[in-house]
Amino acid sequence: MLWEYLQPVTIRFGEGVVGDLTKVAAELGCSRGLLVSDPFFMKSGLAQKIVDASQGALVDVYSQVSPNPEVTEVDACARQIRAGGIDFLVALGGGSALDCAKAAGSICFTGDSIRKYHGTGVAMPQKHLPLIAIPTTAGTGSEVTCVSVLSDKELGKKGPIVSNAFYPAIALIDPELTYTLPPYMTASTGIDVLCHAVEGFWSKGHQPICDALALHASKIVFQYLRTAVKEPSNKEARAKMAEASVIAGLAFTLPKTTSSHACSFPLTNLLHIPHGEACGLTLDYFARINADAQDGRIHAFARELGFKDMYDMADAIHQLKVDIGLRCDLKEYHLTDEQVADLVRISRHPNLYNNPVDITDEMLDAMYQSMR
Ligand SMILES: NC(=O)c1ccc[n+]([C@@H]2O[C@H](COP(=O)([O-])OP(=O)(O)OC[C@H]3O[C@@H](n4cnc5c(N)ncnc54)[C@H](O)[C@@H]3O)[C@@H](O)[C@H]2O)c1
Ligand SMILES: [Zn+2]
Repeated sequence: MLWEYLQPVTIRFGEGVVGDLTKVAAELGCSRGLLVSDPFFMKSGLAQKIVDASQGALVDVYSQVSPNPEVTEVDACARQIRAGGIDFLVALGGGSALDCAKAAGSICFTGDSIRKYHGTGVAMPQKHLPLIAIPTTAGTGSEVTCVSVLSDKELGKKGPIVSNAFYPAIALIDPELTYTLPPYMTASTGIDVLCHAVEGFWSKGHQPICDALALHASKIVFQYLRTAVKEPSNKEARAKMAEASVIAGLAFTLPKTTSSHACSFPLTNLLHIPHGEACGLTLDYFARINADAQDGRIHAFARELGFKDMYDMADAIHQLKVDIGLRCDLKEYHLTDEQVADLVRISRHPNLYNNPVDITDEMLDAMYQSMR
């Protein structure tokens, strides 16, 4: 088996590390920063607090990032970077703010729209601004990945762009920033962590270092996600979920995600289900489909986590979703035959081909029919 492990992001973790921001920017040799964030952090005052604390290093804010960021937001952010003579970026928020900053920090050196690179196969330019990533969800793991997931409403697509230029220079992971995340978003982003870990493990691109990381992150999710959802101010649960999030990010960024992420794109695009919940919706289904693949290593993974086998773990994933209030079917949407056909068609996304078992349209159809 041939594999290579690469992880260029410096990770600084702990309560209060967001306070290191100014020092970190100076260490990077940067002096004119743009804070990229979303409207929640403008309203909460945290964005302004960070700008004020930066002693002039942050000179401007782009605050228009929406959940599942749009290509147009990336283009607007890149224009603001160019106009402001910006030499570094700070992304504060969930995966959406981080992904927008990653893409904008790369295309700002070109006159291009990000559309040129989104789902087109055109390689991203490698020149990019240094990015300090400060995640506020636990979460996407975007702070350590080379992925930026963008949406293009006009063309009806959502999907990842992968580029080595997207690795942040440093991730400041401060669990305190997740305390304000409401229970539903904690549940949704938390199940995303489990999807990253499990899918990274069974991806065709799996490799031993990422396997170990996947196991570590999955264990934490089963142990702490329920508490993080039910007791938002439980510091231990928040810190452990922040740890699981970054480690799951490391577990999937090289092997890449698989079937559940492929299906999440149309579920988010067409039915507006938030990313994590959309991924989690199909995770137990694919756990059953994949259970017997890869010569027993998928069952072995489940056993390491204390389950009888992957079928038993699939039941536990289902129960976890029930306990944290995530949906387990699509009944409320009263899907038409056409909508099911669209879900099947758009689920045929490149990530689907990383799945250990070949997924046919008939299998996707059977899955979505069972959820109607
Ligand atoms: N780049 C990657 O490697 C990667 C991996 C997985 C998913 N993603 C993408 O990331 C996006 C999802 O990111 P996300 O799940 O982190 O959510 P998000 O960034 O879309 O945020 C969702 C909502 O939660 C709010 N929020 C975030 N942190 C908060 C906090 N601490 N307190 C209160 N509210 C808060 C935001 O304001 C927003 O309204 C999707 O587009 C998904 O496809 C990227
Ligand atoms: Zn995800």
